[in-house]
Amino acid sequence: MNEALTNIPQHVAIIMDGNGRWAKERGQERRYGHQAGVETVRRITEECVRLVVKYLTLYAFSTENWNRPTDEVSALMGLILSSLEDEIFMQNTVKFTVIGNMKRLPDDIQVRLQETMDHTAKNDRMTVAVALSYSSRWEITEAVRRIVTDVHDMEELPQNILKNWKTGGIRAEDITEETISQYLCTNFMPDPDLLIRT
Ligand code: FPP
Repeated sequence: MNEALTNIPQHVAIIMDGNGRWAKERGQERRYGHQAGVETVRRITEECVRLVVKYLTLYAFSTENWNRPTDEVSALMGLILSSLEDEIFMQNTVKFTVIGNMKRLPDDIQVRLQETMDHTAKNDRMTVAVALSYSSRWEITEAVRRIVTDVHDMEELPQNILKNWKTGGIRAEDITEETISQYLCTNFMPDPDLLIRT
């Protein structure tokens, strides 16, 4: 095997950035840059499959991006919809998933995202996690809310956490980094080995 291929990261994460500037440099509108971004995502996904990367996270739309002009947000939602190509995921045995506050997305997008997640759930060659309406603060807030909900309903607590917690309450010192990790929406993936901001 080619020596360069023996050190492939297990998890690559990409912060999508600079689409607007890229378009401006070419005398084009921002949406031209976003369209080019989608094409690049497609190429990168196929290349990651070829290189046997196991997880690819794409930070595509942050919580802060909701503050963009309405027509840009709508255009981005349209692009997300049109880029959900089940065929490509199925051909490459790629599992598609979303991290982020899906409930904030338009209903039709939520339905399509859910369908694609369900349809590709058993694919095991690589997982593509697209961060939509995502921020670290949102993820931490959700984790803390879920811990509190579980404390209210102790039956629901995972056994490995329950054994450390006193029935009927939780001491501050019982919350460890591991506890938080278990409750993060990214708990199904290892931490990224390579983070690229484009
Ligand atoms: C960053 O460029 C890009 C975005 C905020 C949006 C990226 C999302 C899409 C293209 C939608 C489709 C997504 C997938 C995963 C298929 P920017 O607008 O911040 O550019 P700038 O920094 O030059 O202003």
